[in-house]
Amino acid sequence: MKYLTYRITQNNCNELFIEDLPIRQIAKEVGTPFYCYSQQNLIENYKTFEEQLKNNNFNDFKICYAIKANFNLHLVSLLSDLGSGIDAVSAGEIFVALKAGISPHKIVFAGVGKTQEEMIFALENGVEEFSVESLPEMYLLNEVATKLNKKAKFSLRVNPNVDAKTHQKISTGKKGDKFGVDIEQAISIYETASKLSGLEVYGIAMHIGSQITSLEPFKKAFAKMRQLFEQLQQKNIVIHSLDFGGGIGITYRDESSIEIASYCKLLKDVTKDLNVKIVIAPGRAIVGNAGVLVTKTLFIKPTAVKNYLIVDSAINDLMRPGLYGSYHEVMPVIKSNQIMDRFDVAGPVCESTDVLAHDRLLNTPKINDLLVFCSAGAYGSSMASEYNFRKLVPEVLVNKGQFKIIRRRPSYDEMLRLY
Ligand SMILES: Cc1ncc(COP(=O)(O)O)c(C=O)c1O
Repeated sequence: MKYLTYRITQNNCNELFIEDLPIRQIAKEVGTPFYCYSQQNLIENYKTFEEQLKNNNFNDFKICYAIKANFNLHLVSLLSDLGSGIDAVSAGEIFVALKAGISPHKIVFAGVGKTQEEMIFALENGVEEFSVESLPEMYLLNEVATKLNKKAKFSLRVNPNVDAKTHQKISTGKKGDKFGVDIEQAISIYETASKLSGLEVYGIAMHIGSQITSLEPFKKAFAKMRQLFEQLQQKNIVIHSLDFGGGIGITYRDESSIEIASYCKLLKDVTKDLNVKIVIAPGRAIVGNAGVLVTKTLFIKPTAVKNYLIVDSAINDLMRPGLYGSYHEVMPVIKSNQIMDRFDVAGPVCESTDVLAHDRLLNTPKINDLLVFCSAGAYGSSMASEYNFRKLVPEVLVNKGQFKIIRRRPSYDEMLRLY
């Protein structure tokens, strides 16, 4: 992770810094566990997309940050200041986006199960663009928009039946997945949509999965989207916008991922002779590598077959390893030359899946040593729960040599407030 570096400090410690701040110092003030984000990293990630789209001479584009990756209001406000739009999948996400100052015209309402109330909320708040995922949803949107005397911009999320070559639990564009409609059915759906008075046929949308680390699946899927565009054109159905979704992978371990430059060039190759706006909806690639989860060791627990390192963060704070078996690099906050040993790093939660890292070679830690789980900015805090009645962990934003708490740790009374 860029902006996460070891520096030798005055007392000759090899200490982990995020930007220009020692993580140890933040931990002392905030307590553990906590999520910690680098503002510079977040901004740079967003700007890389913007620059590369501009370099490829796109002038009508929207980067709609997929807010599900991390909905912290302060992070979304930063992205809003940079001009970002939002890909939202619930009324709650739209609510946060609006609070963060995002114009409703830059919000795309995606998601496979929008309720009538959510559609009303979106339309009444000026959100126009809907990525629709089924026929009944299309009819409901038409009904809701008509009642409100509005026209919803209709994009159909198509399922191109392309293997995203990613973890099966985050693949979304294969036949049989719950997302989108089979691309073969798209033309007849657009024909029907064009006759509905509450809808304006507007775009085609696609999202084939997450943590995709090669361009090939995108190439295949985007070619199918283009083919559909052309078929619709032949039927005089005009498409104004192509939404390519997100899915761009990041480096969690040592895997190489997609160059944003190549991704944007691919978008250009696919669309260069088409008169369309383009939308991309990256989530993980914007926030994933901008955040870490900082934790403290509680106990070292040898067993007959392995050593456990019990830490104070758990699966309820960072679900990904338990949910998908995913990998987060573990780094000590103070690096030492002590002997190394192998550990499973586990949390206090009463679930066998509460192991955040398996078989890691670490300097034998002492009680109260600080560790970080890297690349935890996306699908970390946003998936957290209060399981075991644990407090949601606070979030801290670092900007150069300063930090601020951008979500504080609740008290137990606050957690009980809705009971
Ligand atoms: C419609 C849509 N767009 C964008 C994304 C963001 O994906 P990622 O975080 O992999 O970029 C998702 C993730 O599930 C999605 O469902």
